[in-house]
Amino acid sequence: FTAELDATDIEKGTYPHFMLKEIDEQPFVIRKIIQKYQNENDEIKLEPEIREAMKNCDRIYIIAAGTSYHAGLLGKQFIEKLANIPVEVHVASEFSYNMPLLSEKPLFVYISQSGETADSRSVLVQTKKLGHPALTVTNVPGSTLSREADYTMHLHAGPEIAVASTKAYTAQMAVLAILAVDTARAKGIELDFDPMQELGIVATAMEALTDQKEELEQLAREYLPTTRNCFFIGRGIDFYVGLEGSLKLKEISYIQAEGFAGGELKHGTIALIEEGTPVVALATQASVNYSIRGNVQEVEARGANSMIISMKGLEKDGDAFILPHVHDLLTPLVSVVPLQLISYYAALHRDCDVDKPRNLAKSVTVE
Ligand code: G6P
Repeated sequence: FTAELDATDIEKGTYPHFMLKEIDEQPFVIRKIIQKYQNENDEIKLEPEIREAMKNCDRIYIIAAGTSYHAGLLGKQFIEKLANIPVEVHVASEFSYNMPLLSEKPLFVYISQSGETADSRSVLVQTKKLGHPALTVTNVPGSTLSREADYTMHLHAGPEIAVASTKAYTAQMAVLAILAVDTARAKGIELDFDPMQELGIVATAMEALTDQKEELEQLAREYLPTTRNCFFIGRGIDFYVGLEGSLKLKEISYIQAEGFAGGELKHGTIALIEEGTPVVALATQASVNYSIRGNVQEVEARGANSMIISMKGLEKDGDAFILPHVHDLLTPLVSVVPLQLISYYAALHRDCDVDKPRNLAKSVTVE
């Protein structure tokens, strides 16, 4: 860990907040991951033991908390869609006292920025006792979860100081995508997907997004200045990014924010939509573009002030923000960036302590 840390990493430099600095670092982190997980023959560089463990398991159990749990939800999509292994994603605090039935050859994957989250560690202690292999995906290789697991994958995100996680989340997704592709190849599955090339495109897209701060600040000002609550909707992988977007917003701006699957809002929560309620809708997936826009119409008919974030090629007149085009599977790495920045500006306008929000700790070492 210390070898990776240099003085500039833990100083804000010219940035007013660590969170903004860490949002801006995301393209560099993605490029670093590409470099660290590739060998001189442009092949994925991974410990052979991790490859074997992934190949030999019959089901993966991802255990995590907070933002890392949200990255896990997307990791499941990558692993199931690319490597064809069933994946369950569990909130660590629930799993530890309410363990589901396990498959015959489970592999446990612990995702944790800090590697110190007590809820996750408590699960690791239990699954180790049962003799199941464990892989930790963390930003701190010397951490407890890393030392106690059989294998570690490093995020290479550099120290993350702001309590609200940003660069670790996108790093987690990038590393999980690489792991999924490596596993697919190890199993002999032919893929039409080059993860390093696609992640390179993601890094460039992230750079373009971090250059659009004024536009995103304007959106935060327009949609979120005095609101009490805010909803995020999306379908498929956009739903999971909406969960992370809502967590970011509530963590640092204290606006009550909830993420929903586009089709689920009408089964209850739509009752809370009033004149002017902000609803952020993500529309990055061609397969559900039509239906998510239908959900937007439903909320708009009840007075919602909708902010549609779409992707180039899928945009329609009136969309609030259009993301550069990246591979379908990797859209979460870019769609989360405007959500991070909108949350940041919303918190700033409300005079909140962006880097140290009330009641929250960067690393929660009690169960
Ligand atoms: C705390 C932090 C969150 C983080 C979660 C999991 O609640 O405030 O930002 O996502 O812990 O942390 P980890 O270090 O395990 O990823």
